[in-house]
Amino acid sequence: HGHSGLVIAVDGTSGSGKSSTCRGAASRLGLAYLDTGAMFRAMTWFMLEHGVDVHDADAVAARATEPAIVSGTDPLAPTIHVDGVDVGEAIRTQRVTDAVSPVSTVPAVRSRLLELQRAIIAEAVQGPGIVVEGRDIGSVVAPEAPVKLYLTADPAARAARRAAEQGEQDAAAVAATQASLLDRDRIDSGRATAPLTMAEGAVHIDTTPYTLEQVIDRVVALAEAVEATA
Ligand code: DC
Repeated sequence: HGHSGLVIAVDGTSGSGKSSTCRGAASRLGLAYLDTGAMFRAMTWFMLEHGVDVHDADAVAARATEPAIVSGTDPLAPTIHVDGVDVGEAIRTQRVTDAVSPVSTVPAVRSRLLELQRAIIAEAVQGPGIVVEGRDIGSVVAPEAPVKLYLTADPAARAARRAAEQGEQDAAAVAATQASLLDRDRIDSGRATAPLTMAEGAVHIDTTPYTLEQVIDRVVALAEAVEATA
């Protein structure tokens, strides 16, 4: 029986502060970090790069096993490569953001990425463990995780935060960001395969009233409580 590091499964809506929270908590706990959203974005980047119509599910499915997607799991410097190309910046463009939810509804995309995600988690639990963030981590990817979180935030707060990250301040930009976030939430929650949902046993944190540090403290405390009883 091998070593079994801690798995922390974090799901939630777009822009709820998941990534910053997960990276901060992983770094404080000495755990690896996997951003599964970045993998769906990488798959989407590949489809766009190869001229695949992202709204044609059959066309997307036909090429889902093609890209070599490699995720680096250092919480202080996560990386993502597609066929050897560093796509860390390219996957954050609005073009990819607008196409990622439709691509993520395709079952062949999800099963391909699930395989990659499970392999990364299996390797990480041979060490201290891993924080995994996405939409279906507690429900599908790692349902046995001893710590599960479900992060949400008020849509206006999310849009303001995301717009600030992107250096946008005017009201129109914030409104457009909010519309884009809500649109993704709608598609992510409504899809047939592995929709965004609060997993059984998950702790729900509405991050709206809290600072990033406060949310990280809460996650670290939950993880330490579980480790203490393990
Ligand atoms: O976390 P993010 O905003 O970078 O995720 C981008 C998209 O990827 C999200 O809108 C839906 C999809 N996704 C998913 O379907 N399942 C996951 N586990 C993670 C992300």
